[in-house]
Amino acid sequence: MNKKPLILGIESSCDETAASLITENEQGAPIILSNIISSQVDVHKDFGGVVPELAARSHMEKIDWIVKKAIDKSGKNIEEIDAVASTAGPGLIVCLSVGLSFGKAFAASLNKPFIAVNHLEGHALSPKINSNINYPYLLLLISGGHSQFLNVQGLGKYKRLGTTIDDALGEAFDKTAKLLGVEFPGGPQIEIMAKKGDPNKYDLPKPIFHKGGCNLSFSGLKTAILKITKDIKTEQEKFDLAASFQKTINEILYKKTKIAFSEFEKQSRPKEKIFVVAGGVAANKKIRSMLTDLCSEKNYQSIFPPIELCGDNAAMIAMVGLEKLKLKKFSKLDHPAKPRWPLDEDAAFLKGAGIQL
Ligand code: KG4
Ligand code: ZN
Repeated sequence: MNKKPLILGIESSCDETAASLITENEQGAPIILSNIISSQVDVHKDFGGVVPELAARSHMEKIDWIVKKAIDKSGKNIEEIDAVASTAGPGLIVCLSVGLSFGKAFAASLNKPFIAVNHLEGHALSPKINSNINYPYLLLLISGGHSQFLNVQGLGKYKRLGTTIDDALGEAFDKTAKLLGVEFPGGPQIEIMAKKGDPNKYDLPKPIFHKGGCNLSFSGLKTAILKITKDIKTEQEKFDLAASFQKTINEILYKKTKIAFSEFEKQSRPKEKIFVVAGGVAANKKIRSMLTDLCSEKNYQSIFPPIELCGDNAAMIAMVGLEKLKLKKFSKLDHPAKPRWPLDEDAAFLKGAGIQL
């Protein structure tokens, strides 16, 4: 019996310090042996967002015991690890540097290969941990820093179909939450508040709804919500605004996903139509159920990672490491931290004022 590969994954791109060990079962399906995540919510909550220096300091304080805990929990010995995979970007450079340097040093001390991983590729491949998915598939990546439709054609082969031209969807949830007086990160709270409100109370804008293909824009919503919150007096009005926001987001995603379906089909003529939704916002149940219904309507198979793999974690980084190990795609020990590292390097940069869509 051949030894199954054992990968240590490390993640520190933003405000989660995480380590995970994954391997494969006899049938070659990935199995998570441990998945340890330490969140820094308490460190940043008073500031309403992630403070890079504080985040980096917290990563430094925790990284060695998080990795030790992941190894202990996996039931494996350090010597059995076949490769070490660390997130190298995109993210906050001071944060990335902690997990990246730790991973490189760990790999070198074990004399095992080191694999630099793109965090977004981790999100893109996260559903493969639990489902056997064939390429190509259409991915909607919705997180705190990114919102993109991508045609995932294979490991390392991504074609961006659409992206946000301003705020990421998670950012829109967090900014709305802040305006409603909810602590950072407010996305999950908005979902809870929305359940108690009237979704038809406020009419919110849907930027670039009728143009720009499947590109997205959310910053106009924030401005509209800011204006409304000035007149809000009761808790019920806050719930109504949260519900109206959630409804508007669903309407935008419904329309833009339909456009992305047809662009994906035109580009890849896929045998199977598969739609994967990943990233922190993929935990939102209203978004999940709307997209699941849309998939049944359009004959797509919908795949969502389990909730615990939607947000930042190291199992998804180890998953990319596993695929790269099989192809012997190793990285040098001088691989840099890359604050900006798009999955589709050929796609045009589409952010900022004056963009022509
Ligand atoms: O993928 P992630 O953990 O980190 C990044 O790579 O950005 O995503 C975090 C984002 C935050 O903006 C958070 O508010 C949002 O995901 N989020 C949610 C929900 N859970 C997390 N947004 C809406 N509804 C949720 N249930
Ligand atoms: Zn992420």
